[in-house]
Amino acid sequence: MIELQGIKKSFAIGDQRVHAIVELDLTISKGDFLAIMGTSGSGKSTLLNILGCLDTPTSGQYLIEGDDVTSLSDDELSELRGKKIGFIFQSYNLLPQFTVLENIKLPLLYQENVDPEASHEKALKLAKLVGLAERLEHRPYELSGGQQQRVAIARSLINDPLILLADEPTGNLDTQTENEILNLFEELNSQGITIIVVTHEPEVGDRAQRVVTMRDGVIISETSTKEHE
Ligand SMILES: Nc1ncnc2c1ncn2[C@@H]1O[C@H](COP(=O)(O)OP(=O)(O)OP(=O)(O)O)[C@@H](O)[C@H]1O
Ligand SMILES: [Mg+2]
Repeated sequence: MIELQGIKKSFAIGDQRVHAIVELDLTISKGDFLAIMGTSGSGKSTLLNILGCLDTPTSGQYLIEGDDVTSLSDDELSELRGKKIGFIFQSYNLLPQFTVLENIKLPLLYQENVDPEASHEKALKLAKLVGLAERLEHRPYELSGGQQQRVAIARSLINDPLILLADEPTGNLDTQTENEILNLFEELNSQGITIIVVTHEPEVGDRAQRVVTMRDGVIISETSTKEHE
């Protein structure tokens, strides 16, 4: 479903170039649960941003379901992002003045032809799925970190993404809450959503089917920890 070939990414800083991704090939199948691990600065977030079409590689080929992403315009990229990709960040990125329900519906604000009734029903269903049915009218500051991350997860699902990308989603959470979030990821994965998680935490890697380890902008190892098709 996802194919990266010969991907390189460098950033210009003054007259220097930082090679965040030196050279990388990666194939991800539908329904994979992949963890990306590695030391700080090894290029994990850079890779995730490329996978999520938030950034484009300096060179190389990126295919999603056979479509060459690198040839798309900015508008086409944001359309692809909106339709196929859900994002979850370490810092939740919720809007403080909005309620739980409004935050979950947020991605729909940028879309045309949204049926308000259907989207309301959908947001309710997702709030229930992540265990926040009793918190619909709360604002983010009235919620715990784990609850805020659940809102972010529900928000990432509002457009039925094929792929869920998460950058250190449990980095700010205690072990029990981390476990609950990981259970939720496993459940979503069993429903067929492809999940790609960047993490420093071995517990997260243990839940994934594949673990890719990066160092200095390359993949240095890959292990399959669980049997899957
Ligand atoms: N926008 C940018 N401009 C310049 N350099 C960048 C930029 N983004 C990343 N880099 C550099 O690319 C390298 C890889 O960064 P990246 O954020 O991908 O690392 P990471 O593996 O996610 O690290 P961490 O675990 O600390 O989050 C680093 O050396 C970083 O300084
Ligand atoms: Mg990072």
